[in-house]
Amino acid sequence: MELAPRNCPVPLLLLLLGLSTEWYLRKEKVSQLGSCYVSKGAVISQPPEDSKEVWGYVTVRKDAHMFWWLYYATSSHKNFSELPLIMWLQGGPGGSSTGFGNFEEIGPLDRNLQPRNTTWLQSASLLFVDNPVGAGFSYVNKTDAYARDLATVVSDMIFLLKSFFDFHKEFERIPFYIFSESYGGKMAAGIALELYKAVQQKTIQCNFAGVALGDAWISPIDSVLSWGPYLYSVSLLDDQGLAEVSNVAEEVLDALSKELYQEATRLWEKAEMVIEQNTDGVNFYNILTKSSSVSRVVSNLEFTQKHLVHLFQRHVRQLQQDPLSQLMNGPIRKKLRIIPEDCIWGGQAPIVFLNMEGDFMKPVISIVDELLEAGVSVTVYNGQLDLIVDTMGRNRSEGSEEAVSWMELAPCSGEGSDIDVAGGGPFSVTCIHL
Ligand SMILES: *[C@@H]1O[C@H](CO)[C@@H](O)[C@H](O)[C@H]1NC(C)=O
Ligand SMILES: *[C@@H]1O[C@H](CO)[C@@H](O)[C@H](O)[C@H]1NC(C)=O
Ligand SMILES: *[C@@H]1O[C@H](CO)[C@@H](O)[C@H](O)[C@H]1NC(C)=O
Ligand SMILES: *[C@@H]1O[C@H](CO)[C@@H](O)[C@H](O)[C@H]1NC(C)=O
Repeated sequence: MELAPRNCPVPLLLLLLGLSTEWYLRKEKVSQLGSCYVSKGAVISQPPEDSKEVWGYVTVRKDAHMFWWLYYATSSHKNFSELPLIMWLQGGPGGSSTGFGNFEEIGPLDRNLQPRNTTWLQSASLLFVDNPVGAGFSYVNKTDAYARDLATVVSDMIFLLKSFFDFHKEFERIPFYIFSESYGGKMAAGIALELYKAVQQKTIQCNFAGVALGDAWISPIDSVLSWGPYLYSVSLLDDQGLAEVSNVAEEVLDALSKELYQEATRLWEKAEMVIEQNTDGVNFYNILTKSSSVSRVVSNLEFTQKHLVHLFQRHVRQLQQDPLSQLMNGPIRKKLRIIPEDCIWGGQAPIVFLNMEGDFMKPVISIVDELLEAGVSVTVYNGQLDLIVDTMGRNRSEGSEEAVSWMELAPCSGEGSDIDVAGGGPFSVTCIHL
């Protein structure tokens, strides 16, 4: 584990991140073994009785196994072949689409395995993928197999998609959309561009129709710079607080302009702490509520990487709290049958997160620009109560040197009390059509 500083024993870091040492030791043991669990490109599918769902693993690289779960659309008046296919990508990085997106947001069943009143499955087939490798039921067999940058995340997913469309020819002509949330939006932008190219080059046969970026972390600095003004505008900060938040946001901007990405990550966490202190712990995903701050537990430990611990707690841990974790590691694992016995849902998520440390603060604005130039349909939507990626920060007027060229705010109707799509309380969105 190269990320751990010399004076800090790795198990302590993992412990703080919420991993048991027992798991860590097991992880160490398996990481000694070299060969692949599934041969490269192999797909294992085990359709259940009613064959409305399939799932499997794809070995996207040596020692890197990605889990996916497909539900065929269940409209009462349309065949799935007349409805689109949507791939859903969770944030984090390290959040699980097959867990959180599926059971907490848009899938057919909720966390108590009760049918959800509104599920996207009524309008589309849904493909949940646990990415980057190590998220959810995906896993790696060696510590050096985790993704450390967007390029690897993208190429892994392209490998999976090729494999998926090769094995599921029934989806070849169906409009295919990528939907995403938070950090998933950053990954989705990168994946969309490579998928577009792969379709042009005919290396992947699919009808790629567009990408939707929900509360997407595509321009971190624009988000960070807007936090102060946003919170001030809703009276969650006073003048003094605004000055403090603005100062640390400027520090982030400064680090980024020097391309000091790990430093920018550290300062990003500092900015969050300054906000937490000045707002008495506002919930970053719904500013009308307070967060139950797990991070305070470790905040007084002298720990060189504690900023990563805090960031993980806030941005990944909350996606895999106990009830969901118990569901995934209990009844769902049993139903799926193919999850390796020692692969714990969400167990590798902390290390997924740590490995992406140098990538967190890099923008993908230029990738979005390329998508638009290529004529790919891009939709940006935002929860109105979300702080981490607030709507104000969508307008790249401050952090970005380039002129605003592609943002046009267009409120779009959309309310549904059942779905909390991209953070920010009830699903009431502002869409920015591009
Ligand atoms: C639904 O579409 C698939 C693929 O086109 C086809 O094989 C199947 O027969 C259709 N089912 C119904 C009920 O129309
Ligand atoms: C789902 O629909 C039922 C019946 O209309 C209703 O009683 C229930 O409150 C709804 N659940 C949610 C979470 O909205
Ligand atoms: C790879 O990891 C999985 C999950 O931990 C484990 O079940 C499997 O045995 C490992 N394979 C090898 C070759 O180490
Ligand atoms: C968005 O940014 C542009 C360019 O800086 C500015 O003219 C415009 O007023 C901004 N819009 C909002 C709603 O802040």
